[in-house]
Amino acid sequence: MRALLVILAFAAASVSAQNAIKGIVTNGKTAEVGVWVIAETDELPTKFAKIVVTDERGRFVIPDLPKASYQVWVRGYGLVDSKKLKATPGRAPLRLKASIAPNEGSAAQYYPPIYWYSMLSIPGKSEFPIGKAASQAEWLDTVKSNGCIGCHALGNAATRTVPAALGHFASSHEAWARRITSGQAMTSMVNIIARTDTDRMLKQFADWTDRVAHGEMPAERPPRPQAAQRSGGAGEMAVTVLVVVAIVVFLTWLVFFKRWGGSNSVGRW
Ligand code: HEC
Repeated sequence: MRALLVILAFAAASVSAQNAIKGIVTNGKTAEVGVWVIAETDELPTKFAKIVVTDERGRFVIPDLPKASYQVWVRGYGLVDSKKLKATPGRAPLRLKASIAPNEGSAAQYYPPIYWYSMLSIPGKSEFPIGKAASQAEWLDTVKSNGCIGCHALGNAATRTVPAALGHFASSHEAWARRITSGQAMTSMVNIIARTDTDRMLKQFADWTDRVAHGEMPAERPPRPQAAQRSGGAGEMAVTVLVVVAIVVFLTWLVFFKRWGGSNSVGRW
């Protein structure tokens, strides 16, 4: 019985290793801790990507990958996307080299959208009422989750910049007026802005994208994933432990069922 369990545990471990891409991320000198390693393929029926985080020694394991050839690269705060390497699950560990961002502006392109959206200037409490907004809280309610970001993120690259394809406008204010009257959700967007003071809101969004275009950056830098948020080797370990525990529970159940069933119910059936 014990031998069987040991064999099963090894089988589980080797199955997961065969389906995994593993390796280490450095910056050429030291380990890169708490950065994402992304494996992506378009060889499957749908585009497929899996992302893990390096552990405290820069190691990573991307487990349970369907058979395919993957592009693997590193993304992280303080970095720009690294060169993509081609990799297949079950092969020798990869050595990935993270690309340190040459300046803060290029690093900031990977920050979560909210870091950019929080650059939006909000009128001070003493300025209210403004239009239909009685208080600053009502204004915030409109630009946050009960308004604009109830439907989609703001602050991602698509929204913190104004696409040239939108057309030529005398001012960013006009561009924003055109922008939110676009697409199938235009009525909702227009109505939401009108809960406050439409003109002032458009000015606020125009000022925001102008400042982004002029190189202003989020005030805060996001921290990298810490301690338990990092997976790496621990992820594969957890999968193996789970598989082994499931097998042990099943075998125990089988043994008890046989003993109990043999002398009682099975006899009666
Ligand atoms: C009811 C849901 C909803 C709300 C609320 C909403 N939006 Fe939208 N927004 C959409 C949808 C859907 C699109 C895509 C429209 C399309 O392309 O057809 C969109 C598109 C946009 C775009 C263009 C993005 C691009 O790719 O160019 C911007 C900018 C935008 N919204 C800003 C806002 C702002 C600012 C507010 C708050 C005043 C807001 N939205 C509120 C649903 C919403």
